[in-house]
Amino acid sequence: MKISVIGTGYVGLVTGTCLAESGNDVICMDIDKKKIELLNTGVVPIYEPGLEELIKRNVAHGRLSFTADMSRAVRSSRVIFIAVGTPPGMDGSADLKYVLGAATEIARYMNGYKLIVNKSTVPVGTADKVSAVVAGMTKYKLYPIRSF
Ligand SMILES: NC(=O)c1ccc[n+]([C@@H]2O[C@H](COP(=O)([O-])OP(=O)(O)OC[C@H]3O[C@@H](n4cnc5c(N)ncnc54)[C@H](O)[C@@H]3O)[C@@H](O)[C@H]2O)c1
Repeated sequence: MKISVIGTGYVGLVTGTCLAESGNDVICMDIDKKKIELLNTGVVPIYEPGLEELIKRNVAHGRLSFTADMSRAVRSSRVIFIAVGTPPGMDGSADLKYVLGAATEIARYMNGYKLIVNKSTVPVGTADKVSAVVAGMTKYKLYPIRSF
């Protein structure tokens, strides 16, 4: 399956790498160009036991790649995971600006049916907000599947 992971931090990088290890074609995308440059030169910016070896193996097999190009990530994939940060706001609630920002960018480049998965830690109701953002920007009919 062709998958993109938007946000290549702790969660996105590990998720994308494990999905590639299970045989999927995965593009990990991030707006942080420096991080993507590092990954593209074989430098893993975080430590997780075994992660570096898994990344090397899957990059070598052509199942895992890294990009700062949202258009490429969206257009090349059927399934898109959002794994951006949700830092706590002043009241402790998750700040959804990065999630909704990623949803806006995904919608901008959608070229067909996509399954969008919220992998970020988000409150109940976020799937509706992501759906509303996408619905407002694309001609595609939405079939929201709530998180459970
Ligand atoms: N790190 C953990 O152990 C952990 C555990 C459980 C849940 N979570 C949750 O997972 C989510 C991600 O956490 P993390 O620790 O991986 O965060 P992180 O800060 O390590 O990574 C987030 C990445 O998203 C990128 N990003 C932000 N906006 C973007 C956009 N519009 N397009 C593309 N990339 C964008 C950032 O540049 C950053 O590299 C959060 O909701 C967090 O609460 C994290």
